[in-house]
Amino acid sequence: MLTRAGSLSGRSAMYNANALKIGLFGANCSSGRSATTLPERWSASWPDCLKLARMADAAGIDFLLPIGRWKGYGGETDFHGTTLETVTWAAGLLAATERITVFGTVHAPLFHPLIAAKEFVTADHIGEGRFGINLVVGWNEGEFEMFGVSQREHDARYDYAQEWLDVIKRAWADDDDFDFDGNFLKLKAVRAHPKPYGNTHPIIMNAGRSPIGQAFALRNCDAFFTATVDSRSSIEANAKKVVEIKNAARAYGRDIDVYTIGQIVCRPTQKQAEEYYRYAIIENADWGAVERMLALKNITPDAVSAAEYTKQRQYFASRGIGGYPFVGTPDRVAEELGNISKAGMRGIAVSFVNYLNEVPYFCDEVLPRLARLGMRQKN
Ligand SMILES: Cc1cc2nc3c(=O)[nH]c(=O)nc-3n(C[C@H](O)[C@H](O)[C@H](O)COP(=O)(O)O)c2cc1C
Repeated sequence: MLTRAGSLSGRSAMYNANALKIGLFGANCSSGRSATTLPERWSASWPDCLKLARMADAAGIDFLLPIGRWKGYGGETDFHGTTLETVTWAAGLLAATERITVFGTVHAPLFHPLIAAKEFVTADHIGEGRFGINLVVGWNEGEFEMFGVSQREHDARYDYAQEWLDVIKRAWADDDDFDFDGNFLKLKAVRAHPKPYGNTHPIIMNAGRSPIGQAFALRNCDAFFTATVDSRSSIEANAKKVVEIKNAARAYGRDIDVYTIGQIVCRPTQKQAEEYYRYAIIENADWGAVERMLALKNITPDAVSAAEYTKQRQYFASRGIGGYPFVGTPDRVAEELGNISKAGMRGIAVSFVNYLNEVPYFCDEVLPRLARLGMRQKN
């Protein structure tokens, strides 16, 4: 195991030598990343999250990435209607685990930076250097209205996030009191102790998709998540994308890890996996929730043609929410995940319809195959 003291590279490596980092995405939200009406859909209850985290920790999963979500999307299941707040969730799970990295996902405009800095440090001490941050600026108007906070215009969200993060990094680093005189934040004689665990700071990730969001990530973050990559089977296309992102980061004098997301249905036979995927994600989709999410992106029957709407609905249900589907036998899923690593990606955050039911099979069958492919160590 890599040392936990004083090294940002140790944190970025999640204190292990796995070339391909694997995390679980979205387990703090009801239904996870699958807008399905099936009764086995994910509860996101605390007992289920705790059991999952302990299981994942023991099996060698590298990280847990929660979603910062404040208001459900409606539909028959009220998709994401029940969620656990991510930093307190992370703190509880870090106390109950030993080696897994746990992220907190924070909307910069909703948290005062000094409160956030203190919460992050607290979680980081609980986890002895295993806490990470997913910094988001928000995109869902309804969520902000609920707080009485108006959304800034898109690019200004990242200007604000820059000051917010600058304050946090200074609070983590400066031993002496400091003043901060920004365009948005004006703070006097700021003092914050303790500092993060082990003379370094939590790894920070961001998943901005717009040019300004991506530039923010490259300037400030340790890990960048790309939302979707067109074809996971094309190693060349993905490798090109990774090189472009890493080169863009180097222009800022920075080295950044590239991650992606996906959903997994892994079963003993290809037929079983494909049938369950179709049954859970398409035949039993929560179409009301899918339509609400499309409407948030201004995709409605009034805004686009009927044929386009049908196409978008289908695409969003199958890939837009959970990301690329890795559907198949352990051999097939391991091979496809291996292709991500071959393309130069550092890792992937994945979801399952029911994590507790499905993660054990994935860990028993897929992780050893990835170890044999040389992409992960044996647990
Ligand atoms: C892996 C991943 C995790 C994300 N997590 C959240 C989240 O928890 N809450 C949220 O409001 N947005 C989340 N987002 C949205 C992004 O932060 C970002 O706002 C979105 O990709 C649009 O990019 P833009 O802000 O540059 O326009 C996530 C996106 C990805 C790909």
